[in-house]
Amino acid sequence: MGFWLRFNLLVFTIAILSTPVLSDLILSKVDRRIDLTSQIVRITSTLKVENAGSGLVSEVLLAFPELQAKKFGILMATTNEEKAKRKVLELVSLLKLPIQKECPALTVYSVSLSKALGEGDTMSLDVLAVFTHTLKPFPEKITQADIQLVLFQDSAYYLSPYAVKFQSLSIKLPDARIESYTKIENTKIHGSEIKYGPYENLHPFSYSPLVVHFEINQPFAVAQELVREIEVSHWGNVQVTEHYNIVHEGAKSEVNFLGQLEYQARPHIRGSSAIRHFVAKLPPRAHSIYYRDEIGNVSTSHLWADSKKTELLIEPRYPMFGGWRTAFIIGYSLPLQDFLFELEGKRFLNISFSSPINDLVIDNLVVKVVLPEGSRDLSVSTPFPVKQRQESKISHLDVVGRPVIVLEKADVVPEHNQYFQIHYSFNKLSMLREPFLISGFFFLFVACIVYVHVDLSISKSSASYLAKLQWDEVRATIQQVESIINQCLATHEKIEASLRDLSRIGDVQACKTTRKTADGLLKEHSKELKPLLAFLQSSPAAANICLSLNSIAEKMVKLYMRHPNIMVEELVAKERELQERWMAKHSIIVDCYEKKLGREIENRVAPQQQKVVALRQEVEDLLEYIDEI
Ligand SMILES: *[C@@H]1O[C@H](CO)[C@@H](O)[C@H](O)[C@H]1NC(C)=O
Ligand SMILES: *[C@@H]1O[C@H](CO)[C@@H](O)[C@H](O)[C@H]1NC(C)=O
Repeated sequence: MGFWLRFNLLVFTIAILSTPVLSDLILSKVDRRIDLTSQIVRITSTLKVENAGSGLVSEVLLAFPELQAKKFGILMATTNEEKAKRKVLELVSLLKLPIQKECPALTVYSVSLSKALGEGDTMSLDVLAVFTHTLKPFPEKITQADIQLVLFQDSAYYLSPYAVKFQSLSIKLPDARIESYTKIENTKIHGSEIKYGPYENLHPFSYSPLVVHFEINQPFAVAQELVREIEVSHWGNVQVTEHYNIVHEGAKSEVNFLGQLEYQARPHIRGSSAIRHFVAKLPPRAHSIYYRDEIGNVSTSHLWADSKKTELLIEPRYPMFGGWRTAFIIGYSLPLQDFLFELEGKRFLNISFSSPINDLVIDNLVVKVVLPEGSRDLSVSTPFPVKQRQESKISHLDVVGRPVIVLEKADVVPEHNQYFQIHYSFNKLSMLREPFLISGFFFLFVACIVYVHVDLSISKSSASYLAKLQWDEVRATIQQVESIINQCLATHEKIEASLRDLSRIGDVQACKTTRKTADGLLKEHSKELKPLLAFLQSSPAAANICLSLNSIAEKMVKLYMRHPNIMVEELVAKERELQERWMAKHSIIVDCYEKKLGREIENRVAPQQQKVVALRQEVEDLLEYIDEI
């Protein structure tokens, strides 16, 4: 990102020094619509861009007054072609232009076109700019009896580094009083809509200041900070907890105690811009929903649910006037299968990024995703850039802690409420840790009681001594299994080595011989495994968690991993599957060589290869776990 920024700044400096490059483009038509019906200002512009020079143009510059540019929620440009694919062009860079005559300081963004514009070509570009904190309350302070008035400023002419042939602007206001608006040539008003233009043949950087002063009674709810914690549990649940810290950023209210009483007496007449409630649109099937503030659970919230959504009406304990703040927490649970999916052996979480509350501006949003313990190879994909870091969280049953992905974004608007994904790998065995840990503690507890009260000395005839003997036998057997599996893995490696030789030297015969030897060896290993597995299956010590009493503390740590029987079976099964995959891979490659289909090897082997890698990892993980017994 940093590199790009510098790179583009350089390009701009050159572009500005040699102005002809700038004037290659003209805008043959600009339609601009400004929506001022809520605290979030949305400006949609449709530009018809024409290349009037010679040579290709691959960038279009967009200029914004510096004041607006500081308040961007979103700036997005799409071309007609891309709209079909719903792809957003990336705005890569910015540059501050020196102040021109009466024009305000500008910040310029560049849109790189995926297809350069040839001589005489035209294209259409849709630009959406969403701003926060742009409507200024005027007057800044009001009483409860007053309506809330705000000011909006912009230019009646489209500010652009290019000449504009034909342009128009319309401003949509709330259905309420319009105190005043700038009147210049071609200004019309229809109900709550003001129209400027059309204006023709304007020079680059043409500017005509425009101010609208109007009534708006929408609440200006701004979350100065919102922390969303999304905790994934593979036992079937996604728990979402959201900590809000909200301020009403409309005109400050001069409320006294009497005023508040008056409000309570006649709530519908007074304080028309006060925030009385928030509406949160939660996903369908959300359950265990709560809403809590500093004092405790708030029961005045209401809930509606149908198959498409769950709507939570949050009523603060008192109506919020301008300048007032409130802090609260909402929490809800979601069914795991609606948000967690599997793809190519990895899992991915697909969940919405931002707050479910309508029309909220969020100055700073922190999203923390807590994944199950044992998740690995985490990767995040978001539809827009965010700051990212990783932490870990330890709760009562964790051993090493859960990985936490922390995403941060400033100036968040409702348009940011899009889905994002987190991909990770996870070994199913890790899931067994918790129940093993719980049952482990229970066994430990019982064992301690038995140890302390019954069996203080371990004599050779005591039950615990016999148990220990049994356990030693089980352990020895498991070690034998491990060693055989390791030999199998070594055999796999030999096959792989022979495949490498095949691609180097091309000796198909040698490769086949190795395969034959390997087949023999693996068959033998499989025979050796049989009695060992039979023993483990019949041994009660292997099926149960067996404590040797001499180092309880040490065992306590490892206890949760002990269910040798299941693990050994899983290990053998996985290894067998791995063998089959290896053999299939080998056959495909040898076959391709014999039929001289060298080019197709990659394609044909790829699916087997992926499986081999995944299985190999699983076998190694299992060996590691079993090693700790
Ligand atoms: C608040 O509500 C939640 C969910 O209904 C409940 O689990 C919790 O115990 C309640 N807390 C208090 C303080 O009532
Ligand atoms: C994420 O979920 C949304 C809503 O269900 C869906 O539209 C979108 O395609 C999903 N994204 C991915 C990458 O699966």
